[in-house]
Amino acid sequence: MKILVTGGAGFIGSHLVDRFLAEGYEVVCLDNLSAGTMENLSSALKSRAFKFIKGDIRRSGDILKAAAECEAIFHFAANPEVRLGIPREHFENNILGTFNVLEVMRKLDIKDIVFASSSTVYGDATVIPTPEDYAPLKPISVYGASKLSCEALISAYAHIYGFKGLALRYANIVGPRLRHGVIYDFINKLKKNPRVLEILGDGTQRKSYLYIDDAVDATLHIWRKHKKGFDAFNIGSDDSITVLEIAKIVVEAMRLSNVKFYTTGGVNGGRGWKGDVKFMQLSIEKLKNTGWRPRYNSRQAVELTARALVKELGVK
Ligand SMILES: NC(=O)c1ccc[n+]([C@@H]2O[C@H](COP(=O)([O-])OP(=O)(O)OC[C@H]3O[C@@H](n4cnc5c(N)ncnc54)[C@H](O)[C@@H]3O)[C@@H](O)[C@H]2O)c1
Repeated sequence: MKILVTGGAGFIGSHLVDRFLAEGYEVVCLDNLSAGTMENLSSALKSRAFKFIKGDIRRSGDILKAAAECEAIFHFAANPEVRLGIPREHFENNILGTFNVLEVMRKLDIKDIVFASSSTVYGDATVIPTPEDYAPLKPISVYGASKLSCEALISAYAHIYGFKGLALRYANIVGPRLRHGVIYDFINKLKKNPRVLEILGDGTQRKSYLYIDDAVDATLHIWRKHKKGFDAFNIGSDDSITVLEIAKIVVEAMRLSNVKFYTTGGVNGGRGWKGDVKFMQLSIEKLKNTGWRPRYNSRQAVELTARALVKELGVK
C-alpha cells in the first residue's frame, strides 16, 4: 500500500514516515521544507520504498503529483504555531491546504484521510479531561479555529463522497526532532543565557504531553480500527504537567544549576499569550476503549524529549 504523508519532513510527519517504511509500506512525502528538513528524512531517504517531493499544499498541482497512486493520505502539513502570527498564514497553509488535499482526493478517488488536528479545537473547555463530544467547540486561537475548520471540511467530504476520515486531536506531542514549543524554546533561551530563564505566562499553565512513539502508535492503531465515515479521537496521555515543572526538567537535562526563573506574568490570568489555553487535559477514554494505552506519562515524555533535544541541539 502506498501512502502520502504531507508535512512528512516535519517533526511528527518524519516519525510517521519512518514507521510506515519499517512496516513495509511505500511512502511519498510532500513537504515545502518551510519548517521540515531533509535531515529528518535521512533514514527514509535510504529506502527504495520512499519518495520525497518538494511541494506546497497551497498548490493543488503539487498535491496531484504527490498523491498519484496513493491509497491513503496522512495530512500533517500545516503551520503548527499556536501563538498568534499572521492569521492569513493559518488560513492558507491549514484551511486552504486541507481543502486542496480533499479536492485532489476527490479527483483521484482516494478515500482515506487521517488529519492532524489539535486539542486547541476545544478552546477553554470547562470539562477537564475533555471528551471528544464536548460542546460547544470555541477555539481561542486562529490556529485552533483553522484545525476545527479542517475537521468540518473532512466531515462533509466523508459524508458526501464516502471518504473514511479521521481527525486526530493531539495533545502536545514531543520527542526527538521537535523544533517548536516550550521545551525547544527553553533550551534555546538557556543556551543563550544559562543563568536566567524567562517563562511566558505565570508558569502554572498545565497541559498534557505525549511522547512521539506513543503518538505514532496511537495514530496507526486508530487508523486500522476505523472502518468508515468521519470520526474524531483525542490522542494524549492520562495526566498533565505545568510549565514551571517543564522548566525544571529542562534545567536538569542541561545539567545547569542556580538558574533564576523569571515569569512574565502573562495575559488573561497568567496565559503565555493571547490564545494560549491555560489548562489542557484530553479525555482518552474513547481511544482506550479501542484497546490502546500510552506507554509514557507527561513527565516522562518531557524528560525523554529534553534529553534528546539537548543532544540534538549540541548543548555542551
Ligand atoms: N507537535 C504537536 O504537539 C502537535 C499537536 C497537535 C497537532 N499538531 C499538528 O501535527 C502536524 C505536524 O506538526 P509538527 O509538530 O510535526 O510540526 P512541523 O512544523 O515539524 O511539521 C509540519 C511540516 O509541514 C510542512 N509544511 C508547512 N506548510 C506547508 C505547506 N504549505 N506545504 C507543504 N508542506 C508544508 C513543514 O515544512 C513541516 O515539515 C501539524 O498539522 C500540526 O498542526 C502538532
